[in-house]
Amino acid sequence: MNILIMGPAGSGKGTMSEKILELYDIPHISTGDMLRENVRNNTELGIKAKEYMDAGHLVPDDVINAMVEKRLQEPDCEKGYLLDGYPRTLVQAETFAEISDRVQKPIEAVIALEVGFEELEKRITGRRICPKCGAIYHVNGHMGNKYGYCDVCGTELVQRRDDTVEQLKVRMDEYEASTKPVIDYYSGKGLVHKIDASVPADEVFAQVKEVLGKVA
Ligand code: AP5
Repeated sequence: MNILIMGPAGSGKGTMSEKILELYDIPHISTGDMLRENVRNNTELGIKAKEYMDAGHLVPDDVINAMVEKRLQEPDCEKGYLLDGYPRTLVQAETFAEISDRVQKPIEAVIALEVGFEELEKRITGRRICPKCGAIYHVNGHMGNKYGYCDVCGTELVQRRDDTVEQLKVRMDEYEASTKPVIDYYSGKGLVHKIDASVPADEVFAQVKEVLGKVA
């Protein structure tokens, strides 16, 4: 299965991806997670990306496209992919059309999560993540069996540097200007499934599961 999951910051892309992976044996390719790993490891790419990410801006297309193309050539992508947070600009979408043609892995479904700004603000400011394995938590929801520590690897949870109201506004502006046109681009190809993601996660997943069940 070859799936893209799209939506604004805090719409639940990471949360839904964890659940989709229970259905399909495919790799989860989150450009945000890949970039954060590069930042943590102080790689050349991470040093370049950090400034953009901390400010809530998109990282330049050439950096992202090269990173995704390399990742898609790894053997686990033979089975397909769940791409989270990519493509986010029309340039990325056009480049990805070439990449997916080359590796003969055409997109089968685009899941577009839709949530209003007020709800996004609550989700983003209350989110906590595991800095080691990337698992996602929320101060008004589950915060680990041992409060504040990751259930998966026991690491203390942290808040992302870009999870402030100020940065969220910048990320939303980027989304409106650059990413919404990508959803229109895929709509034109008949691939988009819009999902009401403002409801509890289990209800969002029920919708996603139904859509993917029809595509597979
Ligand atoms: P990225 O990491 O992709 O961030 P994002 O798109 O801003 O999305 P988030 O990770 O913030 O949110 P999410 O939708 O995954 O929500 P989550 O499931 O965690 O990108 C970060 C940065 O990297 C970008 O700003 C950019 O700089 C750069 N970047 C990445 N990709 C790029 C690209 N292609 N091009 C250029 N630059 C790129 O949920 C959020 C919270 O809500 C959690 O606490 C969760 O528990 C809770 N929650 C989730 N679903 C529900 C629900 N249904 N009900 C209640 N709570 C919920």
